[in-house]
Parts: sequence; structure tokens; C-alpha cells
Amino acid sequence: MTTFADYLHKQSTEFSLDNQLIETVRTIVNACITINSQVRLGALSGVLGEAGTGNVQGEAQKKLDVIANQILIDALKNCPAVAGLASEEEDDFVSTNEQGQYLVLFDPLDGSSNIDVNLSIGTIFSILKKPSGSLNTASFLQKGSEQVGAGYVLYGPQTLLVLTLKHGVAIFTLNAQSEFILSKLNPTVSEQTAEFAINMSNQRHWEAPVQRYISELLAGKDGVRGKNYNMRWVASMVAEVHRILMRGGVFLYPKDNRDPSRAGKLRLMYEANPLSLVLEQAGAASSNAHQRMLDIVPEGLHQRVAVILGSREEVDYVTQLHQ
Ligand code: AHG
Ligand code: MN
Ligand code: MN
Repeated sequence: MTTFADYLHKQSTEFSLDNQLIETVRTIVNACITINSQVRLGALSGVLGEAGTGNVQGEAQKKLDVIANQILIDALKNCPAVAGLASEEEDDFVSTNEQGQYLVLFDPLDGSSNIDVNLSIGTIFSILKKPSGSLNTASFLQKGSEQVGAGYVLYGPQTLLVLTLKHGVAIFTLNAQSEFILSKLNPTVSEQTAEFAINMSNQRHWEAPVQRYISELLAGKDGVRGKNYNMRWVASMVAEVHRILMRGGVFLYPKDNRDPSRAGKLRLMYEANPLSLVLEQAGAASSNAHQRMLDIVPEGLHQRVAVILGSREEVDYVTQLHQ
């Protein structure tokens, strides 16, 4: 049996990882264990329902969005290794500890629309090295490929931690004593798949290449792709990505014509980059339909992006349709 603490120790000795990085990861994971205890109790701890507030992106916040955000902020403020944080639920970045060498970006609760109906939700996190000098927004605007670690905690039928420190991916399951125990090492995503995930209700707004791609999949055996495809839509990107990590698949949240000023719905810094790093570490691919996700130079903390990720053959196919 390998505990999360054993795993961190082994990674840090094997790859000479810096102590501050290990402390940062440990702090994030402990905060997620606290979030988990709130999620698990649901109505019994009064955490369900609307918060009655909105975030910087103009989205209504659920009580658990606010609670999870605060748990992470409080924990990171108390971690000397963390110089600053940025959250989907905060207007601006927050400076935390001057001596810190790391920056943490997070979506405290992904899949908020699923909270009140008891479907899978999760916390997504991304860790960057703090550039030298004083902390400002630009310190956070690093390409996804610069992340030193990323992962998520999925509050599903089991609570799982999925982590990469850029030496493969490790999956842990939370036991009855609230400890994460290693349950799978280095999952790999198959190059081919016959399963896709997209919100079909947006079909009329899609651009031509996505229209064509999905119609080819729907044509199944009778179409150019020559095989039948199955569809899933959880509406929690974190759960969607976990399914892809476990059994392959392709996930799309494309740019559409609803709001031409928006590149997509999902957020580059809090969702797309960390989940893309996990998937790339497992052999999958991720793009914004034009370039590799992790190569995008960010322009803003809350930047939106089109997302196509998962089994390599499909991601490459969709990217090629956009050329
Ligand atoms: P969040 O709950 O953090 O706002 O993110 C929700 C995102 C993502 O998790 C999911 O894939 C997508 O929104 C669902 O969108 P639809 O409402 O179009 O299904
Ligand atoms: Mn989200
Ligand atoms: Mn969220």
C-alpha cells in the first residue's frame, strides 16, 4: 500500500523535487480533503443551493463554489511555499507569502450545475513557479507547458486525486480515514476511441468544422469514419476528463457563434491547462482547434478558450478539419 505521503516522498527523492513544491501540493490536497467532507454531507451541512452572488465572469455562484474557494484560499495563505494564487471565483490574483516560490491557480469547484443533483464535481489545480521579482498578473500568465504540476480531486462515487508532477500520472482513492491511497500509476489514454462528449444543444451555434466532425461521428458505420460512436455528457469537465483518462474518448467545448467575442466557454488557466497537462502526461492530446493547448501564450487570468482533448487520433482529426 502506497499512501499519498509515500508517493510524494518517492517523487521528491527520485526527481529531486524542491521541498516548497511538495509543500504546495500537500497543502492543496489537504484543502481538497476538507472540501470533500463538505461535499459528502450535502444537505446535512447546509452547503447546497445558490450563494446569491456572482463571480467575475458573470456566473451565478453556488454555496459550494464559495465555500471551496475559501477553503483553498485559507489553506494556501498558510503555506509559506505559495507566493500567490488565482481562482476562477476571484476577480484578481491574491498575494500570499513573500518567501514563496510557487503560484497556484484553481477552479475550486468544477461542474457547479451538478452540485445540487448529486453528480460528479471536482477541484482542478495548476502549479507554476513564481518568476523572480514582484508579483503581478503577468507572473501568472505562463504557458501551460510551464506548469510544474497539475491535477484534480474528483468528488464522485469515490473521491479520487489525480496528480502529475510531470513524471507520469498517479491516481489515489480516499479511504475511510480520509487518506489518499495510490490506486493506479501511469494510466494511458488509447490513441483511438469511439466515444465523444459535446453539448449537442449548442449544435446550431457551432462553426463549420465542428458541424462536419460531429455529423461524421453521428453517421457511424455508414459514414466516412466507418464505425459507430457513443456519446456522453456529464457537464463537469473534470468528470469528462477522468472518463477519458480511464477509457479514452474525445471531449469538445468548441468556440461557437453565441458570443463572437468569446473564444470558448472554458477557462484556459483554471480548467484547460491543468487538465491538458494531466492528459498529455497520459499520452493524450489537447488543442484549441488550431494549436496545442499547452503552447498558448495567455493574455488574461480569466481567458476563455476552445477545447478539444482526449484520444490523439480524434484530436488530430478535428484540428486538421480546422486548417
Ligand atoms: P464551472 O462549474 O466551473 O463553471 O464549469 C462548468 C463547465 C465545465 O465543467 C463543463 O464541461 C461545462 O461548463 C458544462 O457546460 P454546459 O452548461 O454547456 O453543459
Ligand atoms: Mn469549471
Ligand atoms: Mn468552478
